[in-house]
Amino acid sequence: MQISPSILSADFARLADEAAAVPNADWLHVDVMDNHFVPNLTLGLPIVESLLRATATPIDCHLMIEDPDRWAPAYAEAGAHSVTIHAEAAKAPVRTLRTLRSLGARAGFALNPATAIDPYEGLLGEIDMLLLMTVEPGFGGQRFLDMVLPKIRRARELIRRHGGEIWLQVDGGVAADTIERCAEAGADVFVAGSAVYGASDPRAAIDHLRHLAESTPSTAGAI
Ligand code: DX5
Ligand code: ZN
Repeated sequence: MQISPSILSADFARLADEAAAVPNADWLHVDVMDNHFVPNLTLGLPIVESLLRATATPIDCHLMIEDPDRWAPAYAEAGAHSVTIHAEAAKAPVRTLRTLRSLGARAGFALNPATAIDPYEGLLGEIDMLLLMTVEPGFGGQRFLDMVLPKIRRARELIRRHGGEIWLQVDGGVAADTIERCAEAGADVFVAGSAVYGASDPRAAIDHLRHLAESTPSTAGAI
């Protein structure tokens, strides 16, 4: 069980301090948005490069951008430890995922809430992490979409059938009142923005989320 706090809900003028405020995080989740793939604009490569110098916590880059085939490799080259591209945006996902791995990054593949997992079963051998969005991407602080739970369960089953170690990440509306549902369905990496950086004690919020996830066994069965 891993917790990846999203700095989207942090103070962008104090990113190094905000990273230091969560020493118990497994990852720092960095949401790159281009105002095309999603209707919001956040940050890009120069800030990721600065963050990589400012913290020892591994960086989990979530690219909500058009043309990730063109832009994603630079994040891996910069040293991001995990780089996730979206199924809805990638035109050559196999090539891009292989490039990310060859550059030493973990290769992540993300699906929006309305995108089915089954058409991508054949891609499981190319990825280190599957990200299932539990809100429509673009903004922090949205309400968790329960409709994604059966897909989390299905993804866990497909991953089991495939074998190997593929992490299953959920992102959007993950908080103390929703994380157990995700863990129960088979998620094992939890992104939380407002639930961590909106808390008075972000470090304690992570400990609490981790405790809830770890005390909820997955019931996703084999096929
Ligand atoms: C949304 C981003 C998320 C966001 C989650 O598009 O991908 O990472 O920061 O924020 P919360 O946890 O507040 O829903
Ligand atoms: Zn994200």
